[in-house]
Amino acid sequence: MQNAKIIDGKGISLTIREEVRDMTAELRAKHGVIPGLAFLLVGDNPASQSYVRSKERACEFCGFHSTTVTMPENVVEADILARIDTWNIDPDIHGILVQLPLPEHVDEDRVIEAISPRKDVDGFHPVNVGKLVIGQEAFLPCTPAGIQELLVRSDIETAGRHVVVVGRSNIVGKPIANILLQKAAGANAIVTVAHSAAPDLARFTRDADILIVATGRVNTVTADMVKDGVVVVDVGINRVEDSTREKGYRLVGDVDFEGVCSRASAITPVPGGVGPMTIAMLMKNTYRSALRSISGR
Ligand code: GUN
Repeated sequence: MQNAKIIDGKGISLTIREEVRDMTAELRAKHGVIPGLAFLLVGDNPASQSYVRSKERACEFCGFHSTTVTMPENVVEADILARIDTWNIDPDIHGILVQLPLPEHVDEDRVIEAISPRKDVDGFHPVNVGKLVIGQEAFLPCTPAGIQELLVRSDIETAGRHVVVVGRSNIVGKPIANILLQKAAGANAIVTVAHSAAPDLARFTRDADILIVATGRVNTVTADMVKDGVVVVDVGINRVEDSTREKGYRLVGDVDFEGVCSRASAITPVPGGVGPMTIAMLMKNTYRSALRSISGR
């Protein structure tokens, strides 16, 4: 039996993209500024190629200028750093996105640190991470920013509620914990971060008012691990074999969706939940960067 309200990430992300498109038209009309986003794609990983194509299409939709540079798998790191330096000083580029993962021989940390924090629309630079932690205005990483936006736009109160995050990655777990911990609107939660080292994960998940799961593991959370009325945000995107589908697989999250639906008051589906929010927030970050370029702040 399904009781849970399904949180429509696809619909909400489209609304955000439309808002960004409208604000972009206004920015262009009033100030002659067109947000510009630069992509660096290294190697020929099909998933990365597909992500970058989706981001390029979103730029087109919003009225942004975008440029993509592709480099071969055996690129030398210095060439990547030189390209970033060029974009760092290009006034038409407001956001720089290096699609991850990078080849083994390239130092990912060094590449991220080469991006100007003012153009770091992924929110991965240590300056932006540090600003988030101490509560200063910063670019927030797109997936966790999207989760907060989903909760706010679904009228789900976080203040004073117990948010349990499962997973401690730099891209999702750590930043979403820090975002929802802030003493600010759309946050002010009591936050617990659990992860794979917890001997009894259910002990933590059962106490959650809002449960955010980002482990990359199918069935990390099942119905017996949550309390009635919980709000569940499923960040996972996993392929499972399915011979009834044309592609031979289907996408599922980290949560047993069918089982947990019977207890949750609201839940994000996979696909169509958190996933589409990531690109919408990338557009929003890039717009904000362009806006900031006018004031010089
Ligand atoms: N690879 C997987 N997710 C992301 C992301 O959010 N940003 C970048 N740059 N690369 C990724």
